[in-house]
This record gives sequence, structure tokens and C-alpha cells, in this order.
Amino acid sequence: MQAPAGDRAAAVAGVLARCRELVRPAVVEAVGQLHPWTGEMAAYALGWSDTAGTPDPGGSEGKGVRQALAVLGAEAVGADGGAGVAGAVAVELVHTFSLLHDDIMDGDGLRRQRPAVWKAYGTGPAVLAGDALLALAVQRLAEAPGPWSAVAVRHLSGTLSTLVWGQAEDVRFERLPWSGPGAVGPEQYRSMAEGKTGALLGCAIALGAVLGGAQAGTVAVLERAGRHLGVAFQAVDDLLGIWGDPAVTGKPVHGDLRRRKKTYPVLAALAGGGPAARELAVLLESPGPLDGAAAARAAVLVEEAGGRSATRKEARRHLDAARHALREASLTPAAGADLDALFTYLLDRSW
Ligand code: IPE
Ligand code: MG
Ligand code: MG
Repeated sequence: MQAPAGDRAAAVAGVLARCRELVRPAVVEAVGQLHPWTGEMAAYALGWSDTAGTPDPGGSEGKGVRQALAVLGAEAVGADGGAGVAGAVAVELVHTFSLLHDDIMDGDGLRRQRPAVWKAYGTGPAVLAGDALLALAVQRLAEAPGPWSAVAVRHLSGTLSTLVWGQAEDVRFERLPWSGPGAVGPEQYRSMAEGKTGALLGCAIALGAVLGGAQAGTVAVLERAGRHLGVAFQAVDDLLGIWGDPAVTGKPVHGDLRRRKKTYPVLAALAGGGPAARELAVLLESPGPLDGAAAARAAVLVEEAGGRSATRKEARRHLDAARHALREASLTPAAGADLDALFTYLLDRSW
């Protein structure tokens, strides 16, 4: 019998907290190696301190999904969770780097309810802090103890190329038309999302498994699970970008719509056709910025044209594929169950 939703949420929160406690000292130690200035920006981005460098009780460290995937990846292949810590540190640092640069590219001034690093410190310094985090991630993984660090670095470097590829597609999509020749289709969106989000989630589990001494076949299956999870995760992120509560997501209301981002709900709505889709296309193709009222109208039209439900379906389909991949690998039962619960919970998140 399945546990009630509240119990499942509490169990997943417990797993995330346990992994965070295991990984945090290593992240703190790594960030301590940075130049003091980039270190201060990193500490701000990680939610540890405010812009004065003092501990910030209002700061949020984020969900910690990637670090948990790395720890659970190691445990799932029969190693101690500690074996995955070097991988967890690397993916958390890469994630933080990617968000610093992403907020600049997206022009998003708010991250986790606080000014984004580029707003707080300036664009140049934020680029530099991102670079510092990326360099630190690779260095720390290369220096990881044990026989697997070279394999792990190979995984991470491939992931970085894929992540940048996905981000390039995402940014390029902004310049493409909404309809007609050259318009972005759902298939292109999917490979973009697999790159910008799925690659790092897949890498997180894979690094845990690699550092835990798993066979290449097991690593590949777990990586595939993480990539599907990433596509589902991105679809949910897109939903929250339109219908999420800014007080919970920490992002501005209708931010993606105002910037006319080519997100899955919008693309699916346009693909559906019908009067709502046509009105939506006219709105999106109109010159000038989409103000609050127009963005709110666009959100209504996306829903009416079926974009919201199509996106939920897309997320569900990739979650199912991710869970199916997990069952293909022979995992230790407790960590396998934790991974499965974490996957499922991420689809129901509101943050
Ligand atoms: C972020 O994508 C992806 C990377 C950082 C590579 P988004 O731009 O969709 O994510 P949010 O909404 O800013 O978190
Ligand atoms: Mg963004
Ligand atoms: Mg972006």
C-alpha cells in the first residue's frame, strides 16, 4: 500500500536533509578554497550569507536534489553514501554556476526570493563567480580519492558540453518565430530540456554510481533515468513559471511569459490549434513587452488551449520512463526506494 502524500513528502524531505548533512561540510570546505571575493558571492548564491557576508537566516540553499541523487546513486550500487560525496559537491557547484550565468542570460533579477547574484554584485562579478564555481567543481572531482576520479571527470566534462548545448538551444529559441517555418516544435524542446536540465541530473546519479564502483552498464541505466527525470523536472519548472506561487517558487510571477520564453506549455498550446491558440499567437507575436495584464491573459489562453494539461502529461510520461529505467538496474532496495520516492515527489512539487 502507498503511504499517504503527507507521509511521502516527509520521507523525501528526510532523505534530502540526510544527504545535505552528509555533503555540506565538503561543499563548505571546497568554497573556502576560492578567492575571498568569489567565495563571498558563492556563499550568497548558496544561501549561506547575505551581501555583507554575514549568515543569512532568510537564505535558501535550494532543494539539494542533485547532491541527493549523487549520494543515493552511490548507495543504490551498494557503496556507502560517503563515496558519492565528491560527485555531489561537483554537481552542486556546477548547478550553482549554471544558475548564476542563467539568471544573467534570462535577465532574471530574483532567485530564491532574493536578488540574483548579478543584481546583488554586478554582472561582471557574477560571471566570474560562476566561472570560479565551475573550475572548482572540475578540480574537486579530479582530486577525489579512490580509483574512479578520471572516469567521473570524463562524465562531468561530457555533461558540461551537453548542458551548454541545451542552454544554447534555449537561448536561441527566443529568436525563432512562434509559428510557420523555423518555429520550435515539441521534439526540439525536449532535446533542449534534456540538455539544459536532464544532463546534470543524469550526471548526478551517474557520478554517485561511478564513485561507488558500479559497472558501466548500471551507470548508463541510472544516467538515463536521471535524464528522463530532468525532462519531467523541466516541464514542471515551466508549469511553475506560469502558475507557481512566487512566494513559494521565489521567482517573479509570469516571468517566462513576460519574456516570451519558448516553454513547453506555450508550445503545446500553440500546437493544439483552436481559437485560444490563435489569440495566444497574436498576443505573442505582437511587438513590445508583454505587461502584467497581457501575460495574465496569455496564461489563461495557454490553459484554455490545453498547454497546461499537455505539459502535465509530458512530465508524467518522462517520470514513468525514469522510474522504469530505475527498475532495469539491480539496486539495493532501500536506496532504490529512496530514488523512486524522490523522483515521484519532484513531479508533485510546488517549489
Ligand atoms: C536553467 O533553466 C538551466 C540552466 C541553468 C542550465 P531555466 O532558465 O529554465 O531555469 P530557471 O527557471 O531560471 O530556474
Ligand atoms: Mg532561468
Ligand atoms: Mg534559462
